[in-house]
Amino acid sequence: MTTEPIVLTEALATFDTLWSPRIVARVNAYDVRIAKVAGEHVWHAHDHTDEFFLVLDGELRIALREPAGERTVRLTKGAVFTVPRGVEHRPYAPEGAAILMVEPSGTPTVGDRHDAVPGHVDVTTGPRL
Ligand code: NI
Repeated sequence: MTTEPIVLTEALATFDTLWSPRIVARVNAYDVRIAKVAGEHVWHAHDHTDEFFLVLDGELRIALREPAGERTVRLTKGAVFTVPRGVEHRPYAPEGAAILMVEPSGTPTVGDRHDAVPGHVDVTTGPRL
């Protein structure tokens, strides 16, 4: 962690691994993480925390399994969305995207419950930048 400002575009340029968030800041007990994503993540749920998304570039879609059924939200650049705790979700980005997430430190990227994790998805609580 640094005491200097971090420019997100410069931080994103330091890694290419997909679905492998890096911690750029901490706020109280929360991590601010950035990730490059493309293709599909895995269906998962965070039982104890909401998950905040901000799209920095590209377009992110998040499929959600809600009590009323399944739906997908489309987040364009600059859009924010919070996945409520306990809701199964699967982020995907057909054309690729860069995203920022806020969640409690130590939250695993694949949640507390998840489908089989494909090889292109990192299971991590977010290494520092
Ligand atoms: Ni999640």
